[in-house]
Amino acid sequence: MASAAEAPRADLSSHRLGGYQELHRLRSEHSDYPSQIRPVLAAKLRECRQARGAPLRILSVGAADGAYDQTVFEAAGAGVCGEYTGVDVDADALAQLGARAAQLAPNVRLKHGAFEPALFDEGERFDAVLFVHSIHLMCLDPAFSLARSLLADGGLLLVAIQGAGGVPALHARATGTAWPHNVAETVEARLVEMGAPHEEHKLSCTVDLGGAHRRQIVEFMLFFSAEPADAALRTLGDTFNEPMSVFSVYGGAWRRGHVGERSDRAVIT
Ligand SMILES: C[S@@+](CC[C@H](N)C(=O)[O-])C[C@H]1O[C@@H](n2cnc3c(N)ncnc32)[C@H](O)[C@@H]1O
Repeated sequence: MASAAEAPRADLSSHRLGGYQELHRLRSEHSDYPSQIRPVLAAKLRECRQARGAPLRILSVGAADGAYDQTVFEAAGAGVCGEYTGVDVDADALAQLGARAAQLAPNVRLKHGAFEPALFDEGERFDAVLFVHSIHLMCLDPAFSLARSLLADGGLLLVAIQGAGGVPALHARATGTAWPHNVAETVEARLVEMGAPHEEHKLSCTVDLGGAHRRQIVEFMLFFSAEPADAALRTLGDTFNEPMSVFSVYGGAWRRGHVGERSDRAVIT
């Protein structure tokens, strides 16, 4: 893979991303964070697999086409993922995920829709729940609360999110619209509030989105957390008053979309 420094510059000033294959390609060519976070996520899953003594039931929220998860599982080693459930609002991306099912796990299930309780059966549980580049598109409290209620005892929650200096800063500079809050800081604050034991990894990565945007160092945060105490769940338990929906960070402004609306056709202006 070409390093970010050597990568050809792409003019994204009026570029409509052509779905996830294009996005993955751009991410790999123009930043090193996919490659930096991969071994960390893989090691965590391997550890979890060893602790549980069986291939994991993994839920990936905002899985898109599963391409990145596939590379993480490959790095983690054979037999880490026994059952994979991919949730996404984007039906096309999920169809692509279905096409690579055999590379992901012996059992793969697709759930189309916004991440909300109705997608899951009573008692459905997972050993690990992943939000890789996706928590910032959701309402944080209900998403967290649901994820944690879906975790089996001792299960692992993994959240990968950029800090304020990454794409949020580029977006703010390009559009004049700041993200409403620093998602990475908010995620950690919630974990602290929930009394959830967690680890934070801060990685320095480079990104070059081309065009007017300079190459810069970005923070990338990874959070790992085990299941919280009951009291913490009670605190966040009743947060489903509002239907969850998709937030699009692109297109010039934050807006609340409708469930099922495509959020991957990003326009970076
Ligand atoms: C930036 S992509 C990340 C995809 C993949 N995890 C990766 O790292 O390559 C975010 C994904 O979250 C999905 N998404 C956004 N809001 C969602 C929601 N409320 N419920 C489920 N998926 C959602 C989008 O459709 C998109 O596929």
